[in-house]
Amino acid sequence: MTRGRVLVAASILNADLGNLAHAVRRAERAGADRIHLDVMDGHFVPNMTFGASTVAALRGVTRLPFDAHLMISEPSRYVDEFIEAGCDSITIHVEVEEPVAPTLRAVRAAGRAAGLALRPATPLAMLEPFREDLDIVMVMTVEPGFGGQAFLREPARKLLEARRLVDHRPWSGELHVDGGVNRETAEYIGSLGADVLVVGSALFRRGSDPARETRLVRSLAEEGFAHAFRGERPPAPRDRWVRIATLPRAQGSGLVRRLEEDGIPVIFLRGDGPVGADGVREYDLLVPVAAEPAVRERHAPALAAAEASAALQRTADAGDGG
Ligand code: DX5
Ligand code: ZN
Repeated sequence: MTRGRVLVAASILNADLGNLAHAVRRAERAGADRIHLDVMDGHFVPNMTFGASTVAALRGVTRLPFDAHLMISEPSRYVDEFIEAGCDSITIHVEVEEPVAPTLRAVRAAGRAAGLALRPATPLAMLEPFREDLDIVMVMTVEPGFGGQAFLREPARKLLEARRLVDHRPWSGELHVDGGVNRETAEYIGSLGADVLVVGSALFRRGSDPARETRLVRSLAEEGFAHAFRGERPPAPRDRWVRIATLPRAQGSGLVRRLEEDGIPVIFLRGDGPVGADGVREYDLLVPVAAEPAVRERHAPALAAAEASAALQRTADAGDGG
């Protein structure tokens, strides 16, 4: 099934806590794009769940990305453990009493996505000082601490303003919505531009068909987005990549350096291109799909020069029977 732009992250908080590995497998079989892990310390929120060791134990159960949502008062104290445990993104709460920037930077330094979550009553402006360190803005539409609560429409509207907090990089960050997301609320949430919808009890409630709920939430959110944004270029989450060139190693590595200096992440790997005279298969260069316009606008001359140089090299290789 072709994936649209909306991603579903399954929260296992309301699954069978006596068998989390089974819950993760169920979520994966249901077609969830990510696993959302609600970590609670009984202090920041009036509930306790699990820690990094549980996350580490679950890491081997699935290859799906792990989105950790730390509802804890001292994220700086535990962030390394969650990095070590294999989380792909770590979202902490902006309301904690300690500085948040160092923790966000630690997450980024480990090559993971760094996020800030907002309680329903917390204004979006609280995130302004951290723009440079943000990959994810998580808008909570229930009071953190428990699954199965009713969706709060008013706080969801922060999404409309939140995009500008994460779109200052060539590839866009992600807007997450967490709490009370289900088939009734998904279309409205999609119309606000959310990229990742966290779904918990709607998947695991007795009698639910998790695959059907996942499909309904995703398709209704896509519909809500398409209708509200009327064909504007959808902000793509940062984990969609597109190939922009296939080049011999020499030309490719030069281009990679230029793009990375411009803050555009590049994946540079041998693809299915031709094999050069040096016996090395040519490399594919991939960038986040939302960065493609920036690459084609800002780096067109460098891209054309690399392609021209590659064509000359291929001709020379063919000439000497390479
Ligand atoms: C609440 C958690 C949410 C919650 C979502 O504090 O952060 O992730 O588990 O569950 P539902 O979808 O049931 O609101
Ligand atoms: Zn959560």
